[in-house]
Amino acid sequence: MTDKLHGRSFLTLRDFTPAEITHLLDLAALLKAAKKARHEQQYLIGREIALIFEKDSTRTRAGFEVAAYDQGAHVTYLGPSGSHLGKKETVKDTARVLGRVYDAIEYRGFGHVNAEDLAKWSGVPVYNGLTDSFHPTQILADLLTMREHSKKAYKDIAFCFLGDVGNNVGGSLMLGAVKMGMDVRLCGPKAQWPDPDLLAEARDIAAQTGARLTVTADVKQGVTGCDFIHTDVWVSMGEPDTVWATRIAALLPYQVNATLMAMTGNPDAKFMHCLPAFHNTDTEVGARVARAHGLDALEVTDDVFESPASIVFDQAENRMHTIKAVLVATLGD
Ligand code: CP
Ligand code: NVA
Repeated sequence: MTDKLHGRSFLTLRDFTPAEITHLLDLAALLKAAKKARHEQQYLIGREIALIFEKDSTRTRAGFEVAAYDQGAHVTYLGPSGSHLGKKETVKDTARVLGRVYDAIEYRGFGHVNAEDLAKWSGVPVYNGLTDSFHPTQILADLLTMREHSKKAYKDIAFCFLGDVGNNVGGSLMLGAVKMGMDVRLCGPKAQWPDPDLLAEARDIAAQTGARLTVTADVKQGVTGCDFIHTDVWVSMGEPDTVWATRIAALLPYQVNATLMAMTGNPDAKFMHCLPAFHNTDTEVGARVARAHGLDALEVTDDVFESPASIVFDQAENRMHTIKAVLVATLGD
């Protein structure tokens, strides 16, 4: 299977079949166990990977850097300033340059078309580390984490993603989870639902895999019987600060709090979030936004975030192991 994945890009969950996703998750689990047992084998010795970050990152950058170093590869970090990309040089030209120098490129930025153009013109595998539209490497970590925290097969796991369900994480999670045949619920106000074309695509995939896909504004319908409750920030990177007021007004009913967790009816339901999360007012943005609206948390309350049900740091760790699996499968010896 790894032979089949060699040289491939990962721009959205569309790029891999359910069997290929399963292979990547199995590989991630093996690599994770090997690292913990301190007998990890290196498959990427001497590979050079460019990491383009036009937006901030903690987990994705750390994940790519440590995954590469663990495997014997080298990385170059190209941040929001310091390269010519987007200012004096087009994506197409940058792609052709980086493709001559590097074995692969990671791209985190704004327009998804930039990731597509890098893949089209560089001639090397390109990994989408988050665009305005998709966040596919996040979803491999989410799937691995749900697998680790459930005895059920994917087809028997129910989860609900609440809030800004049409954002890059919500849409990507929907695509990945319908591929795995899960009981997928997106719960938020209609204005935030995913693009109709993406929803239609997910419904087509669900018809093939046996997944159940529910998109609803009704919290009870969304969360009842769920094994996992997911959420994400209500305003994503690249969106203007001016949308906070309307977003908070629309999404407050979908805040993940103790009442919502209890509404699942499942005392073992777990809480997940791709992070960073506004669960208190201890950050610059969290303090400014929450206090301006008389709140002490936004998409998730602190008691849920800090509760035993919260598996967000397992999820964050799995970013690295799953990114490593993608690198090894697409670029390894
Ligand atoms: N979840 C995630 O992508 O985190 P970063 O923005 O820190 O990379
Ligand atoms: N939806 C969020 C995800 C951050 C990892 C954003 O794009 O900012």
